[in-house]
Amino acid sequence: MNEPIVEAQDLKKAFGAIVAVDGISFRMEKGECFGILGPNGAGKTSTIRMIYGMSPITAGTIRVFGRDISLHWRNIRERIGVCQQENNLDPDLSVAMNFEIFAGYFNIPAGEARRRGKELLDFMALAHRSEARVNELSGGMMRRLMLARALINNPDLLILDEPTTGLDPQSRHQVWERLGSLKAKGLTILLTTHYMDEAARLCDRLIIVDRGKILVEGSPLELIRRYVGDEVIEVADPAMELSDYVVSQGLAHENLGHRLVIYSQAGNALFRKIAGTYCTEGCILRMATLEDVFLKLTGRDLRE
Ligand SMILES: Nc1ncnc2c1ncn2[C@@H]1O[C@H](COP(=O)(O)OP(=O)(O)OP(=O)(O)O)[C@@H](O)[C@H]1O
Ligand SMILES: [Mg+2]
Repeated sequence: MNEPIVEAQDLKKAFGAIVAVDGISFRMEKGECFGILGPNGAGKTSTIRMIYGMSPITAGTIRVFGRDISLHWRNIRERIGVCQQENNLDPDLSVAMNFEIFAGYFNIPAGEARRRGKELLDFMALAHRSEARVNELSGGMMRRLMLARALINNPDLLILDEPTTGLDPQSRHQVWERLGSLKAKGLTILLTTHYMDEAARLCDRLIIVDRGKILVEGSPLELIRRYVGDEVIEVADPAMELSDYVVSQGLAHENLGHRLVIYSQAGNALFRKIAGTYCTEGCILRMATLEDVFLKLTGRDLRE
């Protein structure tokens, strides 16, 4: 079997009394897009920062490209591209200068950096703004610039912490296309996102974490099948008779008061029965999604 690109074992991160990452283990194979999903404060960014050697490990081990990050972070870092959750562009410099300075950290010669910067700005549809100062760009453009910049060193592993947060649908689709083409070329990608459709589209495998622990691991489709089923019926303002029927039939469901969510393997027949008998309107049948899995496993309460 090939060596994994990332292998984390019993990884922990504590900030004083706060345990952000609480003993998680996973491996990422070459060429796959691996997702880390979880509510706010679940420990995603803390995990990622340890993987690229930005934050010391409290306990456990991480091997990246087969080497221990605590010992070899310099070499490993050279082969990783990172798009952090927060914007860390230099706002007073031009787009092009941001590239050049960043390329300097990787000792990429100036000519090569310019050529590559131009290519990447083209790739992220930013070439027309290369002379603009960063603080003149829109939020979405800055995000695309951070993504482009993460590729300057031609990385073997691309780490993206919420790459499309704040992007409009056009930009998001464009980024998905670009990430898809990078993946097709064999690039290994580690991704966090709060957009379940993004995770379902891009990730080969993912983990859902909560309070620093892994709840589940699998492909998006596996997880949907395992935890939700094929289809979901949603009923607005359900009648008492329907709530009773669902309970009496032992159907997997969640009663949110003003809305009833029923998880079903045989959605169509059940939907006809429910729509015909218990509700004339406000009743829909839809495909089960990763968002259903996420809410089912992590609950509906807001986090800190
Ligand atoms: N530098 C720090 N000092 C103290 N506590 C921290 C620090 N960084 C993170 N934490 C805490 O660790 C926990 C996990 O934070 P982390 O940023 O890893 O979450 P996350 O899953 O990335 O959340 P989000 O989806 O909001 O980005 C939180 O309780 C957070 O407050
Ligand atoms: Mg985060």
